[in-house]
Amino acid sequence: MFEVSKVRQDFPLLKKAGESNKPLIYLDNAATTLKPQSVIDAVTIYYTDYSVNIHRGDYDLSYQVSDYYEKTRKAVASFIQADVNEVVFTAGASASLNLVAYGYGEKYIHEGDVILSTESEHASSILPWFRVASQKNALIEYVPLTEDGMITIENFRNAMHYKVKVVVLAHISNVLGYVVPIKELTEIAHSFGAIVIVDGAQSVPHLQTRVKDWDIDFLAFSAHKMYGPTGVGVLYGKYKLLDSIEPYYLGGGSNARFDRCGNITLKNPPYKFEAGTPAIEAVLGLKAAIDYIESIGFHAIEERELELRKYLVDQLKKMKHIKLYNPNATSGIVTLNAIGIPSQDAAIYLNSKGIMVRAGNHCAKILLDVLKTPDTIRISLSFYNTKEECDAVIEALREITLEKCIDLIF
Ligand code: ALA
Repeated sequence: MFEVSKVRQDFPLLKKAGESNKPLIYLDNAATTLKPQSVIDAVTIYYTDYSVNIHRGDYDLSYQVSDYYEKTRKAVASFIQADVNEVVFTAGASASLNLVAYGYGEKYIHEGDVILSTESEHASSILPWFRVASQKNALIEYVPLTEDGMITIENFRNAMHYKVKVVVLAHISNVLGYVVPIKELTEIAHSFGAIVIVDGAQSVPHLQTRVKDWDIDFLAFSAHKMYGPTGVGVLYGKYKLLDSIEPYYLGGGSNARFDRCGNITLKNPPYKFEAGTPAIEAVLGLKAAIDYIESIGFHAIEERELELRKYLVDQLKKMKHIKLYNPNATSGIVTLNAIGIPSQDAAIYLNSKGIMVRAGNHCAKILLDVLKTPDTIRISLSFYNTKEECDAVIEALREITLEKCIDLIF
């Protein structure tokens, strides 16, 4: 296990917080994580020492930076246990999910086909499929969730049938933090001939991803939720599938040739999906983020986040005015409301204590009907959070009242 106080020194913002009298308690890690110095350095080193484009220049600097860029692809492949030509760089998880919905939907979805998802999905997972369904006269169906918003293997099996062509779901829900038994669900989906697309935005940073072992068909995730830069993400796809679908957009770098008659020959995956100059600095930063995560290790990350979660939830359970929506989740996401206080008012109160959380619908707008609440407060933990930070949020929630929130707002 790592030493938390040491690890916090790696993050400039946490270091600054440690040196100041003003509290800075960052508990919104599901929205984005803080960045360690090594990631910031990788980004700035690109601009100060390289700055040139990749895959286009016949000079040393361009060769060098292209090599670093491709080394990141190798690092990502090894990180998720994929093959290197199955790793596509995109602008983020949303771009990856749109890419696959466009490419797979365009080619393989026909009238009457079913896309199976859940009511707890993030907009970026489900909205692209709403569009495919409307364009192709296909149907969206949902796996019924348990009362507390969980997907069970039994419910999933009951929801599957032979018209389901695509299953799209998050490995970890961004609102409730439940870890879906992805390997088991994938096996069931495949037995009906459906492919499985996984939104890994919340899972890839927190647990070891094994795309081959789980046999999932596509996986999307973002660098910025795993201590890396914004503006870059990954689409993993089985090579055969990537090879068979069309890119969402076309341009330089993705084609082998084209002629005046409009004939286009695309490169092989992953390059056919990477038209245009990418966010080179962000890709190099992603490599530094992977190195950083690996230096800590998933075993330690999971252990730490679950320990903090238990500490927080055990205290919150004792408070009659706090409604917990996911007391049994097994990730760092804790979702709640202070009864009678709108979540955004509560978040403003927490902010007055230096505590940063997310409030609202968390981009999963259908889930609110299942939870029967218009919004929630989401606390999302990372391995760099501390028990003292949990104590601060426990204390603030213990004493919160609507009057105190109103006083702050007006
Ligand atoms: N998708 C991110 C979240 O859940 C932004 O907060």
